[in-house]
Amino acid sequence: MAANSTHEKYKSDGSLPGHLLEWVDARFPATALWRDHLSEYYAPKNFNFWYFFGSLALLVLVIQIVTGIFLVMHFKPDASLNANGVPVAFASVEYIMRDVPWGWLIRYLHSTGASAFFIVVYLHMFRGLLYGSYRKPRELIWLFGIGIFLALMAEAFFGYLLPWGQMSFWGAQVIVNLFSAIPLIGPDLSIWIRGDFVVGDATLNRFFSFHVIAVPLVLVGLVAAHVLALHEVGSNNPDGVEIKKHKDTNGIPLDGIPFHPYYTVKDIVGVIVFLMAFSAVLFFAPEGGGYFLEYNNFYPADPLKTPPHIAPVWYFTPYYSILRAVVWNFFGLDAKFWGVVGMGAAVLIFAFLPWLDRSPVKSIRYRGPIFKTLLSIFVVVFLVLGYFGTQPPSKAGEIISQLCSLYYFGFFLTMPWWSRMDKFKPEPDRVTMK
Ligand code: HEM
Repeated sequence: MAANSTHEKYKSDGSLPGHLLEWVDARFPATALWRDHLSEYYAPKNFNFWYFFGSLALLVLVIQIVTGIFLVMHFKPDASLNANGVPVAFASVEYIMRDVPWGWLIRYLHSTGASAFFIVVYLHMFRGLLYGSYRKPRELIWLFGIGIFLALMAEAFFGYLLPWGQMSFWGAQVIVNLFSAIPLIGPDLSIWIRGDFVVGDATLNRFFSFHVIAVPLVLVGLVAAHVLALHEVGSNNPDGVEIKKHKDTNGIPLDGIPFHPYYTVKDIVGVIVFLMAFSAVLFFAPEGGGYFLEYNNFYPADPLKTPPHIAPVWYFTPYYSILRAVVWNFFGLDAKFWGVVGMGAAVLIFAFLPWLDRSPVKSIRYRGPIFKTLLSIFVVVFLVLGYFGTQPPSKAGEIISQLCSLYYFGFFLTMPWWSRMDKFKPEPDRVTMK
């Protein structure tokens, strides 16, 4: 017999598994956790496809951790040269690709997974913008999300150095050098980060340590906090109405359905579609046209040969464009320093959304033309910045990136005004099923 009230413990039905579960449940809140987070967690019944991306992000997190464990079994974080004059780290990745049984699959799952993670997370964040999911009472879910996003960026940056290819080396060199633009402490800080005067073996070893243990621990902890915060306040939905406002006599939201089995089954559909697209890239185009694995990274790192064009991986390029858009010195400080400030601010500004958005309704469905137009332009601006970040520097690219950066910050900073001025449709009392 299954337990049926929140505090009731599981009673065995006389079978062996039943006895085992009763024994466990008396010592650990197994059925309570199952009920609170799955079978009796009531989610709005009007979720659409935008709600797939949270569970897909969880799936990609698991893929990255599992494939990472197997990669670490064969990878060697060592920048010294082997008998063939090839860096040991680079050679160990080649060994995984050519000699380790199924090694190529594990490695491509991990490299494609990194790009998939950012695609899924960007879409997941965009859903938040569409439906105002960052608004009260979900501010903490959003802030944990921003923490996750920062940790994810750090994870990707540290991981990219490990194969010790040309882009790994020179990408890390460029980014760590940015810290030297900070007044007073900058030059010492960048040496401290590298552990050497140039990116070298010490850098490779510490980035390895951060990539395989420190950042994943933080990431997993933040994801747990993110989902716990979500389950405390309940999910938002495409109508942006609070389902907890209307409950039946048992205290169950009238517009809610149990997460399990309804959404576990629905999420499996999303997982299957995702895995189809993921496999297509994995098996037919693992380099993703040079965007997922950059062609220059198929050459071993050579500290004496700077590649003509150094660009970060696609998911960093919008911020890289903002960094390059700042070309003026202010207050006696170098343009490079202000570029770093701009780049950091471009990421952190998302954290203030819950307080910048003053619209009386949450969802785009009931917001007016101002929001729809400004948000659409924001998406285009983000993509344009992303595009120019992949391109070699040019005058046209610089001017367009400057205009786009201006719009990017303007969008957020003027939001308290324009978000109130719009024309709104009346928000329904209960969720609608379109
Ligand atoms: C590893 C990365 C992440 C994982 C595994 C994850 C997981 C989840 C899951 C499982 C949900 C519930 C299902 C859904 O609403 O789609 C969710 C909801 C949510 N997430 Fe994330 N998330 C991640 C990153 C982020 C980021 C970077 C942000 C924003 C900065 C964010 C903001 C939100 C918000 C606002 C909700 C509530 C949405 C609503 O109720 O409408 N998440 N997340």
